[in-house]
Amino acid sequence: MKIAIPKERRAHESRVAASPETVKKMIGLGAEVAVEKGAGIGANFTDDAYKAAGATIGADVTADADVVLKVQRPIVSGKDAELASYKSGAVVMAICDPYRTGDDVAAFAKSGATVFAMDLVPRITRAQSMDVLSSQSNLAGYKAVLDASAEYASAFPMMMTAAGTVSPAKVLVMGAGVAGLQAIATAKRLGAVVSATDVRPAAKEQVESLGGKFVAVEDDEFKQAETAGGYAKEMSDAYKQKQAELIAETIKKQDIVITTALIPGRPAPMLVSTEMVKSMKPGSVIVDLAVENGGNCELAQAGKVVTKHGVRIVGHYNVPSRLAADASALYARNLFNLLQLLVDGETKALAIDWEDEIVKGTCITRDGKIVHPALAPKDEPAPKEEAAPKEEVPAAASSEETPSAAPSEDSDAAPKGEG
Ligand code: NAI
Repeated sequence: MKIAIPKERRAHESRVAASPETVKKMIGLGAEVAVEKGAGIGANFTDDAYKAAGATIGADVTADADVVLKVQRPIVSGKDAELASYKSGAVVMAICDPYRTGDDVAAFAKSGATVFAMDLVPRITRAQSMDVLSSQSNLAGYKAVLDASAEYASAFPMMMTAAGTVSPAKVLVMGAGVAGLQAIATAKRLGAVVSATDVRPAAKEQVESLGGKFVAVEDDEFKQAETAGGYAKEMSDAYKQKQAELIAETIKKQDIVITTALIPGRPAPMLVSTEMVKSMKPGSVIVDLAVENGGNCELAQAGKVVTKHGVRIVGHYNVPSRLAADASALYARNLFNLLQLLVDGETKALAIDWEDEIVKGTCITRDGKIVHPALAPKDEPAPKEEAAPKEEVPAAASSEETPSAAPSEDSDAAPKGEG
């Protein structure tokens, strides 16, 4: 089994799909591993480190590979096109953002590739070690707080000095999922006074267990606002109005606002209006982690840090890639854990159990077809299998509960000319 690790070609992407540690493990699985020259440089993994782990280094590593490991989905056309260079039928594992990139999914099918979308790994206990949304969002939540502190002209902790007392920063985290909870923990560690809001009732206890104050309109709709899978539901207009009023009151007292709110399969909810930004103190900072999914703050701009009405508004692209070394190391382990499931320990060859719940939930194209039920073209009947495991968070469900793909992968900065 030949495994290739090409260099990522999309803009704003410094991560790589294998670390020297996972190269060693793949060789332990019986694979030959080829890494494209310089593939790990953005994550501080040198060619020599890959070589020492047992990989070969080359220029064109994908042509004869049985398995291609990627961070972002392969570019399907244009000058940077990648897909055409892969062997037909090759297994490709990548973050694919499939609900927003239908044309690419069709191109993957047409190419004959067997594509596994890492962002669809079901959120079941057995697949936790493969959950790239969690591994990457956790780092993004941490980095969002550091990005906020870099723009903030005051300190986070309270300081008692001979020259007087410095007040602690007040931080509001909007959306207390994986990224939001890490942002709360990080802001607390830096000494801030932290509050947080979410529409899922389960978030309240999690926020409070981290020492944050929970702020939400806790009415009957709120009490039922979580899908069976644990994701947020789109709220009614009446709820959104009440939530907006509460947030408007809360936000004007904050120094830092970090927004992470997403609704699977839909644009991110707009939570911070222009009026709210205007109500904030000069020098306050907003970091919008949802900026590439439409944004939670009306004035955030993808890929930019802007000042509006005296408030710094941060909208970096691909925040996990801003911590490329750790993000790559964790992503590489997520990939390896899924790969291990696809390989027969004795024959050391690919032996995919197509009935496995994780395989079914993650594989999107195979044998020239789109095989994921949630992605079947509208004029074709969906394959019969249930895509969504009933347990815990679904890999794919009804359109209302369809999980979004990775938060940061499909920016408008993707190279032009891709299909
Ligand atoms: P996400 O990235 O889809 O959304 C981020 C957060 O935004 C969520 O907490 C969501 O409730 C919140 N949100 C949406 N609309 C909002 C609004 N209008 N106002 C305020 N907040 C809003 O969520 P993420 O981080 O992927 O987590 C989703 C769920 O999955 C959570 O329940 C989490 O605990 C669970 N999970 C389960 C795992 C497992 O293996 N079983 C692994 C990781 C997460």
